[in-house]
Amino acid sequence: MAEACRIVAEVLEGIKQSVAPGITTKDLDNFAESFIVSKGARPAFKNYRGYPASVCTSRNEQVVHGIPSSTKLAEGDIISLDIGVYFKGFYGDAAITLPVGEVNNQAKNLISATEKALQTGIEKAVAGNRISDISSAIQTYVESQGLSVVRSFVGHGIGRELHEEPQIPNFGRPGEGPRLAEGMTLAIEPMVNAGGWEVVILDDGWTAVTKDGCLSAHFEHTIAITKDSNVVLTKL
Ligand code: MF3
Ligand code: CO
Repeated sequence: MAEACRIVAEVLEGIKQSVAPGITTKDLDNFAESFIVSKGARPAFKNYRGYPASVCTSRNEQVVHGIPSSTKLAEGDIISLDIGVYFKGFYGDAAITLPVGEVNNQAKNLISATEKALQTGIEKAVAGNRISDISSAIQTYVESQGLSVVRSFVGHGIGRELHEEPQIPNFGRPGEGPRLAEGMTLAIEPMVNAGGWEVVILDDGWTAVTKDGCLSAHFEHTIAITKDSNVVLTKL
């Protein structure tokens, strides 16, 4: 599983270098798919419930599951990139949001707060805690920054399947849900909106956008819970 996650981290690192005004999300998807296949792995999202690409590319007010297209990224956009890899029987899953060129302060703050929210959740992912300790930490931090957490998509267990039990909401009261134990592998993924938390799905059946049109960011890591702490598997 660590190997699948390492490939995810490598793709994201490579893609980071390519994101710039003028590039299309289809270009990014092609890069990711070739890289994954060159490692002898398989893009986990492609054909998953009919999803048509290897990467989810969600731009500006798009929250998650944006479909790569031939539209060029423009200076000032933000772009969320979500990647899953299947390798030797196991899955890895991670996401980042990147600025395209120079972005405004609202976008910068949203990106850094969402990354920090993920970090805050990961810190609570230790044996003995409960699932909602992660959820609550994420929600508390995000709302302290004047931002909102998306309710209709959640993090998840991951391993031999892309989506396993338990679900990991990004909101809730602490002390609830399954207890965390050594050896569990989880994908924690806060989606954070600059305005309201509500989202709607576009007619393509996939793309989730903010209902009020505000910006949205998404960070995700696959982690493994160890005896005293955890390891982030989708980090180089
Ligand atoms: N990271 C997302 C998730 O864990 C991506 C799924 S996209 C899909 O649910 F295309 F595979 F559905
Ligand atoms: Co995920």
